[in-house]
Amino acid sequence: MLRRLHPVQPASFAFTPANLAWAKGQISKYPEGRQASAIIPLLWRAQEQEGWLSRPAIEHVADMLGLAYIRALEVATFYFMFQLQPVGSVAHIQICGTTSCMICGAEDLIAVCKELVAPKAHQLSADGKFSWEEVECLGACANAPMAQIGKDYYEDLTADKLRDLIARFSKGEVPVPGPQNGRYAAEPLSGLTSLKDHDSGRTQYNASVQAAVDLRDTVKKIDGTEVPLLTPWLGVAVKAAKPATKPAKPKAEAAAAVAPAAAAQPKGLKAARGGKPDDLKVILGIGPKLEALCHSLGFFHFDQIANWTAAEIAWVDENLEGFKGRVTRDKWVDQAKDLAAKNKGQ
Ligand code: FES
Repeated sequence: MLRRLHPVQPASFAFTPANLAWAKGQISKYPEGRQASAIIPLLWRAQEQEGWLSRPAIEHVADMLGLAYIRALEVATFYFMFQLQPVGSVAHIQICGTTSCMICGAEDLIAVCKELVAPKAHQLSADGKFSWEEVECLGACANAPMAQIGKDYYEDLTADKLRDLIARFSKGEVPVPGPQNGRYAAEPLSGLTSLKDHDSGRTQYNASVQAAVDLRDTVKKIDGTEVPLLTPWLGVAVKAAKPATKPAKPKAEAAAAVAPAAAAQPKGLKAARGGKPDDLKVILGIGPKLEALCHSLGFFHFDQIANWTAAEIAWVDENLEGFKGRVTRDKWVDQAKDLAAKNKGQ
């Protein structure tokens, strides 16, 4: 299937502070020079935050990882788990249409989606709650036909069972995933014929369904209550930033906070000291393009960026053609301070 970016795109994308902290934790799992390996978790988090992957989100992730945009686009357009257009606010329904499911009734399920959700795949339902698409084999062929709804599998479906599931999701319920015909897992319909011992100590649901029930995140959206990613290898846990309830600022301070700093161009260098520029791409948010732009403005070293004043930040933010506001948004100065201190300590 041809997977294209949606024709209508938002103007920009930025991770929330909590998700940015999480993303930095993910990137820190990989050794120097291998940060690109974090692309799938970062794209996934961006999708979790917004519901779908916009072009600005994909490019933002590419910038964070120092990747050419085309590399990130290749990943985002290859995997079906990435939604390249807005999806239903409650759930996106993925109907498997491959051989086993097709033989066992996938076309009936698709007909239900066309009737109850929208006539065409990737269209939103009239109330905006649902969207659907047909996907390739999801690896649950023994429980065909099946659908992935949100993050979980609903198996052994019939048209009526899917109708019922959509109605329940619509009312705010989260039906228990897994087989919908009374089967425990993928055993024969007539019951177990071997390995019967496993039957005696079993939990109420099979392990996948039990995990889905325990985690309760089938169609849950990110809301700041997620467990923060722990990064003991950094010496500190990367904590999810709490939605701030800031104390009211004194009037003068508040006015200063909103007043734009007068812009002043920072002093640049003609060339890197000793002909050796620092690798500015290790600053999250700076990719190859931005690094080249920094060089063209005379910025080659972490300590240069670390020493920018508020007025100088304002000037650079204004003069990064195509990347306006990135210095503030991605906190370059704070990052550069740490990197300059590390350079000093070496
Ligand atoms: S054919 Fe549908 S899950 Fe494999």
